[in-house]
Amino acid sequence: MVIVVVGTQWGDEGKGKVIDYFARDVDIIARYQGGANAGHTVIINGKKFIFHLIPSGILYPDKICVIGNGVVVDPVSLFEEISLLEKNGIKVDGRLFISENAHITMPYHKLLDQIEDKFRGKGKLGTTGRGIGTTYADKYNRIGIRAVDFLDDDVFYEKLKIALELKNYLFREYYKEKMLNTDRIYKEYKPVREKMKKYVINSVLFINEMIDKGKKILAEGAQGTFLDIDFGTYPYVTASNPISGGVCTGLGIPPTKIDKVIGVVKAYTTRVGKGPFPTEIKDFLGEKLRRSGNEYGATTGRPRRCGWFDSVIVKFAKTVNGLDEVIITKLDVLSGIEKLKIGVAYKYEGKTYNDYPLNTKIFSNCEVIYEEMDGWNEDISNIKKYEKLPKNTKKYLERIKELTGVKISGISVGSEREQMIKL
Ligand code: IMP
Repeated sequence: MVIVVVGTQWGDEGKGKVIDYFARDVDIIARYQGGANAGHTVIINGKKFIFHLIPSGILYPDKICVIGNGVVVDPVSLFEEISLLEKNGIKVDGRLFISENAHITMPYHKLLDQIEDKFRGKGKLGTTGRGIGTTYADKYNRIGIRAVDFLDDDVFYEKLKIALELKNYLFREYYKEKMLNTDRIYKEYKPVREKMKKYVINSVLFINEMIDKGKKILAEGAQGTFLDIDFGTYPYVTASNPISGGVCTGLGIPPTKIDKVIGVVKAYTTRVGKGPFPTEIKDFLGEKLRRSGNEYGATTGRPRRCGWFDSVIVKFAKTVNGLDEVIITKLDVLSGIEKLKIGVAYKYEGKTYNDYPLNTKIFSNCEVIYEEMDGWNEDISNIKKYEKLPKNTKKYLERIKELTGVKISGISVGSEREQMIKL
């Protein structure tokens, strides 16, 4: 059985908590895309864990975690995370596996990512600077280093040499930066490569064998639908496919084996980095949401831009991901706002758009058509049953359901594991 959990907005929907919630009932948790740009936060008994690469399911001692071929792996970040987990008494060995054909993020990828984004000037994307786009670019340029290459002395040296020849040319001639030394990097990475050996497997065979044996797999998406390289707000996107389809290419799970797709929907909208965001609130209310929702990037610490719920994008997310059901997160953050708004359509040059336009010019300059609803004042963070929610909270959820066509199966009302209402 395969269940997929995806973000339906611009990431940071609270997937960490939702994945942690579902992880208890599965055998394997597998990441299928992205890299150390992700930041999945899980809070257990007041203790906060932020995961960048390792699936958060690792917190359950009996679960197996897989980093799939669609992920780009920065070994430095990976071992930082492993040692932090081990310091907290969480054993990783024998439970964490990395795909042989996952691509490796090298120091030049991170450097180039940061330099390139700076050079974009006004067109800056606001990347996380973790070398994500540059690692994927090398993958598609067929000069990437996969985990299996990384472990082989000769292949690694040869690939590193080729990659650095090109990168150093750019550093020297174009960016006027210092060059990187092949032999030094080769030497520096020797102990890391040794340590990595025990984790690397043929994950596509492993996962499919587990599925055939009747094991339950949870495929964990990072980022969100509107950061998807194909369907997001291009070019203000990440370099992979966070949509549910990414599971097929990023884990080698055939579409015929996917049983359920669960969307994670924040009760309002946030975005980190640059790019269009029609329902963004630019006044004090945006700041209020940021504070009460603790909306700061889990990876970079950057303040997240905050805005009203946008039903148009979530409706599109339902279509492109094939959502079976959704979990609404951070509903408690909306308590105390007198009037709530929901974006229901866009207007651009006299034309109304009821669906998400892939044209970035339209999406960047449109005016939002809103519906207004009465808010609620009650603290809902300790409510365990839907019936106990205030009348206006229920009305808000009902309207989201009607406008987006999604089936709501759960509501998260706080950051702790237990703060969840099942429907
Ligand atoms: P990159 O993934 O570092 O290349 O960044 C590209 C865009 O995706 C930037 O706008 C980032 O802020 C955004 N981004 C990347 N990862 C995340 C995430 O986990 N949550 C939210 N935004 C993200």
